[in-house]
Amino acid sequence: MTAVGIDAIEIRSGKLKLDLPNTFAPQKGDDPEKYTKGLGLNNSSFPDVYEDIVTMGANAAKSLMDRKGLVPADIGRIDVATESAFDHSKPVSTYIAGCLEQVYDDDFRHANKGERKFACVAGTQAIDDAYNWIKAGRHRGRAALVVATDTALYARGDPGEATQGAGAVAMLISEDPSIVELSTHQGYGSMDETDFLKPNQQFPSVDGKRSMQVYLARMREALEDYQSVAGKVHLDDFAYAPFHTPFPGMVRKAALLAYRHIIRDTEIEDDLAGEIGRQPREDDYEDREAYEAAIREHMDELKTTDAYQSWYADAVEPTLGLSREVGNWYTGSVHVARASALRDAIAKDRDFVGETLLVGSYGSGAQAEIHAETVREGWREEIEGLDIDAQLDARYDLSWEEYEDVHDVHEYDKDVEREIEEFTAPSEEFVFTGWGRMNERKYEYIA
Ligand code: HMG
Repeated sequence: MTAVGIDAIEIRSGKLKLDLPNTFAPQKGDDPEKYTKGLGLNNSSFPDVYEDIVTMGANAAKSLMDRKGLVPADIGRIDVATESAFDHSKPVSTYIAGCLEQVYDDDFRHANKGERKFACVAGTQAIDDAYNWIKAGRHRGRAALVVATDTALYARGDPGEATQGAGAVAMLISEDPSIVELSTHQGYGSMDETDFLKPNQQFPSVDGKRSMQVYLARMREALEDYQSVAGKVHLDDFAYAPFHTPFPGMVRKAALLAYRHIIRDTEIEDDLAGEIGRQPREDDYEDREAYEAAIREHMDELKTTDAYQSWYADAVEPTLGLSREVGNWYTGSVHVARASALRDAIAKDRDFVGETLLVGSYGSGAQAEIHAETVREGWREEIEGLDIDAQLDARYDLSWEEYEDVHDVHEYDKDVEREIEEFTAPSEEFVFTGWGRMNERKYEYIA
């Protein structure tokens, strides 16, 4: 069977940064460690005044096409995953294709374009669509361009404000891919939830604490569903576990839950029994409340064990490297986590062709999806090509007042009274130039 998966990745960060411990925490009267240790974040990326979901997505896509030597005729499909769209009808993929057509001779006239929406899980769903399109043989030898792009902004003063971010991940999905092959097996956990939503509004209504519970519940169901088709998962089946990362502290909670679930009824649980006892079983308790209290106590002990900590350090912590520096990129977040894992493998000089990643995606509203990915021969060269370190180093470090201005600039309904100068100088990239006659957003390539 033909392998289908991710052949190339490019990451584009917003060009500004907000320093959470040093700029954000003092304004909120908080201990900086609430951000660095509690949430696990150092900085968030922000878009400069000329950046948005289209410029970041188009810039990532152009880098990808140039690095792979592609022309528009090589792309049969462009799907954009976003929850920051500014247009209820015309998909962001048409804006991105329009940008790219400014710089390539050819056009994307015969490519199928669309937009995927399901909060943060939409990026993974767009990859699924591409996978299915290729597997069905409808692609005529062409590849699919999937762009996950978001400006993840919250209303000023919302508790989510600390977890903001902005960036895009462009991915090429093809036959015989260089980076990873996607598994046919998938597991889902999906329920109608009202924990995080944007009903005709730019910034989300969020019940933060509940959203965390929903994340964990749906992720557990997705894992169970995945195991029902792929068979029981064992810890040594996979090298890394990249998860959707709204902030690293969330993944820390999810990882402990996944670990407890995966080691149940295995030798690892038996080995740990002498140290912390076996995991509580619901049948042994009078009611749900007593069982849940026992589980909480057990989890507190489990997380201090050497067995758990060494698995976490090897398989999960390395997936959080970029996220700590950029914040939540919504649809792009799990793809940033995968890239962090692969960068870690390079840093450790791991030759792990043929090894597996267990990938957990999540979107509020709510749906989790779990699948496996097998690392392919060309992974190292592709990941070494990323220039994300240079992008992060070059970000303009916002003062508090500048942050307030930038947030206002990106709020569509706000009348920004004063013109805000850009903080960085655009060069060799697409920029937003203003609104057009029909209220469309307009873009230009700056050479
Ligand atoms: P909060 O209430 O301001 O924070 O907001 P907190 O008081 O819960 O503190 C956060 C953590 O820092 C806690 O850790 C504190 O103990 C710790 P925990 O106890 O939970 O392990 N802490 C400290 N640690 C060390 N030193 C200190 C210190 N002080 C406190 N001095 C909240 C947190 C997540 C609720 C907020 O940021 C929020 O509403 N975020 C937005 C929603 C969100 O990200 N939810 C995550 C799950 S839903 C999801 O992932 C989907 C999403 O990406 C959207 C989509 O799908 O489209 C969001």
